[in-house]
Parts: sequence; C-alpha cells; structure tokens
Amino acid sequence: MGHAVHVRRLSVHTAAGARLVSDISFTLEEAERVALVGASGSGKSLTAAAVLGTLPVTLNASGAISVCGCDVRPGRLPRSRTGVAAVHQDPSTALNPLLRVGDQLDLVLRAHGTRAAVATSVATSLLEDVGFEDPDKLLWRYPAELSGGQRQRVCLAIALACRPKLLVADEPTTALDVDTQEQVLDAIERVRQRHGTALMLITHDRRVAATRTDRSIRMAQGELIDEATGVQG
Ligand SMILES: Nc1ncnc2c1ncn2[C@@H]1O[C@H](COP(=O)(O)OP(=O)(O)OP(=O)(O)O)[C@@H](O)[C@H]1O
Ligand SMILES: [Mg+2]
Repeated sequence: MGHAVHVRRLSVHTAAGARLVSDISFTLEEAERVALVGASGSGKSLTAAAVLGTLPVTLNASGAISVCGCDVRPGRLPRSRTGVAAVHQDPSTALNPLLRVGDQLDLVLRAHGTRAAVATSVATSLLEDVGFEDPDKLLWRYPAELSGGQRQRVCLAIALACRPKLLVADEPTTALDVDTQEQVLDAIERVRQRHGTALMLITHDRRVAATRTDRSIRMAQGELIDEATGVQG
C-alpha cells in the first residue's frame, strides 16, 4: 500500500534561528487516521502547515516531505498543494462572508478541473456527503446564515472538492458545542471512508484521538516523543 504522506527530518525555524519544530519524521499510510497530539505550543499546527505548504513567510522549513509518492518542498508554496486539503479550527473565518456556499464550492471545483456544466451537481453531492439533507437550498445561503457546525461541514465539503488523498484537520471541532462536535466528526469519518482519504487530526481531546483515529503521534516542545495505538472507533 502507498503512503499518503511521508515526512522526513522536518524542522521549522525562525529567521533568527530558533527551532520551533525539531527533526521530526512520520508516515501516514493511504486512508490511515492519525491523531497529532501534544500540549499547546508543541508544534502541531506548524507541522501541519509545513505539510500543507502554508507556513508563515517569516518561518523556514528544512527536511523532506512527500505526498502520495511525490516529493514536495516543505513549508511554503506559491499555490495550493495537490493531494492535501485542510479544515481549520474556526469555520467562521475560513469562509468568504460575501459569497454564497454554492459559489465558494464552484470556485474550488473549477480550479481543480471540474467542468462548469457539472459543477453544481458535484457541489450538491459533496454537501450531501457531509450530511446536509437539503443541499440544493444550501447552495444559495451565505455563511452568516449557517450555524457553526453547518459552516464547518461546508468547509469540509470545500476541502473535499479538490479530492485530497490527505485531509489535515487542525482542531476542527474546538469552536463547537459537544453535539455539533460529534456531528462534524461523524461527517469527517463518513467522507473519509467514502473517498479513501487519510486523516491527520490535531486534537487536545484524548477521547477523540482514541476513538476517531487508528493511532496517535505525540509532540512536545517541537519534537516527536512517541506514537500510540488508538482504540478503533
Ligand atoms: N509565525 C510564528 N513565528 C514565530 N513563532 C511561532 C510562529 N507560529 C508559531 N510559533 C511558535 O511555535 C511554537 C509551536 O506553535 P504551534 O502553533 O505549532 O503550536 P500548537 O502545538 O499548534 O499549539 P496549540 O495547541 O495551542 O494550537 C509555539 O511556541 C509558537 O509560539
Ligand atoms: Mg495549533
């Protein structure tokens, strides 16, 4: 089986030379679910950003990353990286408030090669995949007309629109209430299974790590300290 992402000796440092992530290596197999855990400030988000190609311009990365067998430059990219997509902590800032849900999905689908003639039907089925029962109506709504959980599921649909092999979810449910958290985690699990996507789930919640992933990778002070097998959930 191929791997979704392979990270070798990744380090992230500031221009002044301070090391924020130190020499970490790990692999996610195809369709594998891995939790990235550790205290606040341990380097989880920076590791995710290096994989996604979205590190802040003030930071530098070294090491090697391959996504779906292709070597990519760690750190920062002029364009979005093929094969990986992300869902972030705060869905209210991740969506464009001025564009309807349908237009936001359309932009991503068209940018990834979906023909205009079929874009709406693909958008509708993505919204169905993430658990919306009335996807046709949803296409016409603005983000401000949605609840937090609905917004996060829209973000998930947009992430899937580029058909990623790896979904990086950085605390995707922290901003949501408990019931809505479960709904979003269920949606992630459902689409992950349907599309065969690997998952890197950053979470502070041990229960979520144990029940929603196959194993955990723990970071502390920029280093990878151990790996543990989770409970199948
Ligand atoms: N742009 C930046 N410039 C300088 N230092 C940074 C920058 N971004 C993050 N850091 C520092 O790097 C370290 C790791 O940050 P990171 O955001 O990866 O932590 P985290 O594990 O995701 O924490 P949390 O659980 O709170 O989200 C922290 O000490 C943080 O202050
Ligand atoms: Mg973080």
